[in-house]
Amino acid sequence: MIAPSLLSNLPATLVWEDDTLRILDQRRLPGETVVETVATAEAVWRAIHELRVRGAPAIGVAAAYGLCVAMQPYRDTAIDAFRDRLTERAAYLDSARPTAVNLGWGLKRMLSAAQRHNATTSLELYDALVAEARCIHEEDRLLCEQIGRHGLSLIKPNMGVLTHCNAGALATTGLGTATAPLYLAHHEGRPFRVYADETRPLLQGARLTAYELQVAGIDVTLITDGMAASMMSQGLIDLVIVGADRVAANGDFANKIGTLSLAIACKHFNVPFYVACPSSTLDLETPDGRSIVIEERGAAEVTSFGARPTAPTGIKVRNPAFDVTPHTLVTGYVTELGIVSEPYGQNLASMFGAHR
Ligand code: MRU
Repeated sequence: MIAPSLLSNLPATLVWEDDTLRILDQRRLPGETVVETVATAEAVWRAIHELRVRGAPAIGVAAAYGLCVAMQPYRDTAIDAFRDRLTERAAYLDSARPTAVNLGWGLKRMLSAAQRHNATTSLELYDALVAEARCIHEEDRLLCEQIGRHGLSLIKPNMGVLTHCNAGALATTGLGTATAPLYLAHHEGRPFRVYADETRPLLQGARLTAYELQVAGIDVTLITDGMAASMMSQGLIDLVIVGADRVAANGDFANKIGTLSLAIACKHFNVPFYVACPSSTLDLETPDGRSIVIEERGAAEVTSFGARPTAPTGIKVRNPAFDVTPHTLVTGYVTELGIVSEPYGQNLASMFGAHR
């Protein structure tokens, strides 16, 4: 297993130890490395809602352990009451953020593990939930590594690679999705340059991607979102690779706001545009991008920079956290089973319909 040595200088996204969930508070990176214990269902909900833990795969793992945390007060109750409470607590955690499908995916997996288990006591069922959450966690690490191996062939010597937001180690519990091929290529000694979009308004690209790639010793340059097309026009970008929060059955996908503009610029400048994601991000029940719910966040994220106001008081604001890119702009999906190309509707279903 290669992942631990590549990420040895980066704090872990989350840890489950002694029946306790600890998460790295990503709102405070890169300035401060603060790990906090989340000990109640409400604290888990807030950690996800406030993006202390964020990134689709990491949210899925956090929700799975979060459900264990939420059920800790009920370990002594009757098994039927425990099961009823479990369903209700899962629905509560699922309401923390709407767009990344991994949140609901992780919780559904926990509920079906509980359904399959014919435990006679609540404690026994609780232990089964912890075992399932550990399994989801370990799988996430492996999925990232498999995505990295399949995406490695895309990273050619001396190329410029652009990525948006953070689909990195911090967005998962492994090598990341979009970053996994980059980490593996770097590990092999291949020279290449990465451009990290800063990603307004919460700066995941600047605070997280630029940080984690720099810590790993990868050649990374930070740019503002508005620079991407200009960099392409100068021939500096040979490949764009991003993550995803939800991929619909026809291959349309939601990712951090700004992804759509990048995909359109790639089409114009003939730059390959790849999406890296595990099967836990596929939502084959959603037919196309029009049905994906886009999270709209508070105006303050747009009207201030840190604590400093940067817009007139009372200004009207829109702040959708994600956008939807049509499948026609996607060159390929880098998944744990290989690179998937058009026709996505057919290929995603035949590759992942049964697999999931
Ligand atoms: O709002 P965030 O920071 O959770 O948004 C994260 C993204 O949009 C990532 O690109 C996506 O979750 C993929 S993470 C592997």
